[in-house]
Parts: sequence; structure tokens; C-alpha cells
Amino acid sequence: MRFSDEFLQEVTLRSDIIDIMGQSIKLQSSGVGKFKALCPFHRDTKTPSLSISADKQLFHCFGCGKGGGVIQFVMEQQGLDFQEAVIYLAERANLDIPKNNQNNEDYVKNDIKKILFEINLECAKYFRSELSKSKKALDYAKERGLSPEVIKKFGIGYAPSNNKILDILEKKGYSKEQLNLAGIIGTAEDGREYLRFKDRLMFPIIDLRKNVIAFGGRAFGDAMPKYLNTSNTPIFNKSYNLFALNFAKNSPTPYLILTEGYMDVIALHTAGYSAAIATLGTALTEQQVRLIRRFRGEVIICYDSDEAGQKATKRSIDLLAKEGIRARVLIQPDCKDPDEYINKYGASAFGDLIKTAPIAIEHLYEDIRAKYDLSTSEGKIGFARTLALELAKIDSEIELEIYGRKCAEMAGINYETILSEVIKAKKRAVGANIVRPQQTQISSPSVNRPSPDKELIKLILNDQTALDMAIKNLTPEDFDGELWQSLASEFWNGKTFEEINSNPKFAENMNEISELILNDEQIVDIKLAATELILKVKSNSKKRRLDEAAQSGDIERVAKIMSE
Ligand code: GTP
Ligand code: MN
Repeated sequence: MRFSDEFLQEVTLRSDIIDIMGQSIKLQSSGVGKFKALCPFHRDTKTPSLSISADKQLFHCFGCGKGGGVIQFVMEQQGLDFQEAVIYLAERANLDIPKNNQNNEDYVKNDIKKILFEINLECAKYFRSELSKSKKALDYAKERGLSPEVIKKFGIGYAPSNNKILDILEKKGYSKEQLNLAGIIGTAEDGREYLRFKDRLMFPIIDLRKNVIAFGGRAFGDAMPKYLNTSNTPIFNKSYNLFALNFAKNSPTPYLILTEGYMDVIALHTAGYSAAIATLGTALTEQQVRLIRRFRGEVIICYDSDEAGQKATKRSIDLLAKEGIRARVLIQPDCKDPDEYINKYGASAFGDLIKTAPIAIEHLYEDIRAKYDLSTSEGKIGFARTLALELAKIDSEIELEIYGRKCAEMAGINYETILSEVIKAKKRAVGANIVRPQQTQISSPSVNRPSPDKELIKLILNDQTALDMAIKNLTPEDFDGELWQSLASEFWNGKTFEEINSNPKFAENMNEISELILNDEQIVDIKLAATELILKVKSNSKKRRLDEAAQSGDIERVAKIMSE
């Protein structure tokens, strides 16, 4: 579904960025219509690097580079895509969401998604009411320590063995095809249709907009398979979702607790640890890590203590590190998983485990040390090399030094020896594209002067005189770079900044645009600056066109451009 420009503007007009950001962030006034805040999108603890302009309806963090308008803020903060953010804001502003007809195919697709959400919600309601009627299911829930509050919070239900739900859904007007698409009905190899969930305790999987998108069903006792999940559907992909993230994103802690299973999450939430989430029966994926990163910079990995769990832990540490998330590792002594640990030792004992959960490198250290005999030279060398491979993955020099020294001390090896191995490993890793090379900070802006095209756009965005001058002397094609060209053509066509701010075409570039506008650099003489920049852009453009004409051997065109 594509929203009309008018609707998008209406939504942004009724969604004041100060109002919306102020709901979750403490804003400090820093001049008329200007605010500063600690950036919620990176670990910004001291200096408020986030600038917000009420006038321009933009935010930009000069620490992490995130920025944009109110739509981008909602996208970033709530982990929504553009459309979802618009719908969120529209609902908040009590605007009717238009039944769109511009783009028929997309519209139909979206309509189907809506129907699938409805079907899942109907099922969730039905399963919930069935749970209260089934002694067997209630007994099992009780045995597993599920309190009535938690059953309610997670919407846990029971899928009975009969086919009654099909009648109910049919009466509500849903077709077999739609139920199939929702994953409620499956088709067997011989073509026969069957009800997917029978005689199972049901856990709804809920997305960040509170839609029920799928289910996980636990069999009773030893029936197989132990867990059954909805297969991938148009609204559910198990690699892109995390169980209970809808709750955990609101937890007060700076970390999330990553577990393997539904029951672990539920046990943790019951015990008061609402930061717990779980993957959906698969190994952690890159998409899930990105999803996590939208909300937190730290994860406590709390997988099962068996070998598979420990392997998965290592894999996840690497994956998280690659995306810049700090990992800690929580181990449950003599217990299989967090669920069992809490049932055995209680909630506060688990709190102690969280407090002392070592940072990932220390966990790796223990692991690596166990493989080498540190009383021999060969053992020490092997240990130092393997450890260096892991240390090489640390981006921050301070952290590297702290962990390096710690490991050196624990192993009785000279720190410099380990460091030289780390440097070698880093070089190899950069070559092999495993580790991102350290970003070099360019401190003086004059070293890295933005292109005249970008500077002129900045001037245009901020000043009407500059815009008028540019329109008189340039065409959008004179700009070098796709973004500047399309921005210019919007302005040349009389579009206002408000219209650009809500235009999905620029959604991806809003962080760049907000940076240009909110950067506080003062320009003393705007006319002079505009004249200089216009001349530069024009002469560069002429040069480019000349080159192009010469390349194609078009003498006539060369002569014409030269005579301009
Ligand atoms: P309980 O035995 O009920 O405590 O569950 P658990 O969470 O301890 O189960 P386990 O550690 O065996 O599995 C962890 C997660 O893997 C589960 O929550 C499921 O998401 C998934 N899983 C486990 N068994 C199966 C299975 O048979 N099929 C599928 N698709 N997923 C499973
Ligand atoms: Mn378990």
C-alpha cells in the first residue's frame, strides 16, 4: 500500500517531533525551538549529542549519525518500517488510515496480511478460552509453573484435538485458502489438509505492533515433535522475529537476555526478568541481531548448558560482536536451562548470575585455556595465538588493553607477546574482511570539506534567498550525485521542506539531510557563499558534460557547451 502525499503530510503535520520524542526522551532546551538530548540509539551517557529542531521537525545525532524526521524517529525507536511508522503516527493522531487504491497489487497484498493477522488473533482468542476449559492443559501449565498472570500476559492457550476452530473461522468468513496461508491448516504430501496444532499448549508469537503473527505449540509429555511452530507465512518469518521482544523492549534494563526457548522466556518473565527473549527454534540470525540492536547495545546470552548450547553461544557472541553488540555469558551451574535454574534456586539466585555474568571474552578465555597445558611452552604459544584471534575482534583499544592484560596475567604470559599476536591477527582479519578496519576520525572539517553540491544543498535547505539564487542559475541536473539532484528537482518544482520530510522517496536519506540542516555551522554572508557555491557547482557540471561529450566524440556538443 502506498500512501498519498497528502496523507503523509497530514500525518507529519499532526505528529509534532518534540511531542513524540519528549514522550520517551528527556529534552533540554538549547535555544528557541531547539533541543538537545542523550541519544537513545547509541551508548550516549555524558554529552547530549542529539539535536532536535521544532522548526524543521528534524532530529540528528552527531555521535552516531542517526537522524531524520518524526517518521524516521518512530521507525528507529520502535523497530518499524516506513509504512508501519506512518500507521502508528496516524493512529496516534486519530487519523483514518486510507483504504488505498493507487497501487492495486500492493494493496491486495496488504489486505491479505491484515486478514492473516485477524485469523491469528481469532485463533489466539479461541485457544485462550479453550485453556480455561481443559483440566489437562491447566494441570500441565501449573506443573510448568505458569501463573494465571503470566498465562494472561503471554496469551497462552490450548489447541484441542477436535476441528471446532475450523467451523468458527469459517463462520467468520475466512476461506480454506486463507487458513492455509496463515499456517493454521497444513497440506500433507498426499494433498489432504490437516489442522496444524492439535492437543498442544499454545504460545502466540507477537510482533512489535502487537499483532499475533504465529504460534509455537508445546506437546504434552513426550509426544513428538516437542514443539511445533507456524511455518513461514506472508506475515511470519522465524529468522526475522524474536519471541517476547514486544515485552522485553520495554524492560528497564540496558540489556536483553537471550535464551533458547519459550519456557525459558516465560520462566524469566515470571521471575521478574522482563528483558528475556528467545529465538524461535533456530540459531540466532543476522536479522534478529539487527532487530536487537534497534533497542539495546548489550545482550546476556543464556543458552542451555549442554554442548549444543555452548556451541551456539560462541556463534552468537561472534554474530553480536560483528554488529557492535556487547555480549555477556550467563552460565547456570548444574542446570540444563534458565527455566530449570529458576525453578530450582529461585528468582534472586538468577539475579546473582546476571550480575556476575562475565563479558564474552572471559568466557572464551576459560574455554580456550581448558584446551592448552599452560605449564609447557607449546601450550602457552598455542594459547596465546588462539586467544589473540578472539582479542583481535575487539574494536575498542581500551577494551582490548584491559582484556588483553587480564588474559595475560591469568595465563602468566607477557602482555606484549599477546598484543603482538593480536596485531598480526588483526592484520590478517582485515585482509580477510572479518574485522572492520578502525575508523579514522577526521578531526578538522577542512580536511574533509563536503562537496560544493552538498554545501549548496545545505544552504538551500536553510535559506530562501540561497534557494532563489540557485533556481535562477542552475538546473537540478547541474548537481553531482543522485540525492542532490532529486532533492533539487523537488525544490525547483516548488515543493516545500515539509513535503520532502514526509516523502518516502527520501526516507533512506533523512539522516544525511537532517545532518545538513541541524549542523550548527554559521554562515556569515549567505549571498556570497551562495554565489561561490553556485559558480562551483555550475563549473563542475560543465566539466562533467564536456567530458561526457568528448568521450562520445560529439564535437558539436563540445563546441556548444564551451560557448555557454
Ligand atoms: P521444555 O522442554 O518445554 O522446557 O522446552 P525447552 O525450551 O527446554 O526446549 P528445548 O531446550 O528442547 O528447545 C528450545 C527451543 O527449541 C524451544 O523453545 C523451541 O522453540 C525449539 N524446539 C525444541 N524442540 C523442537 C521441535 O521438536 N521442533 C521445533 N520446530 N522446535 C523445537
Ligand atoms: Mn526447558
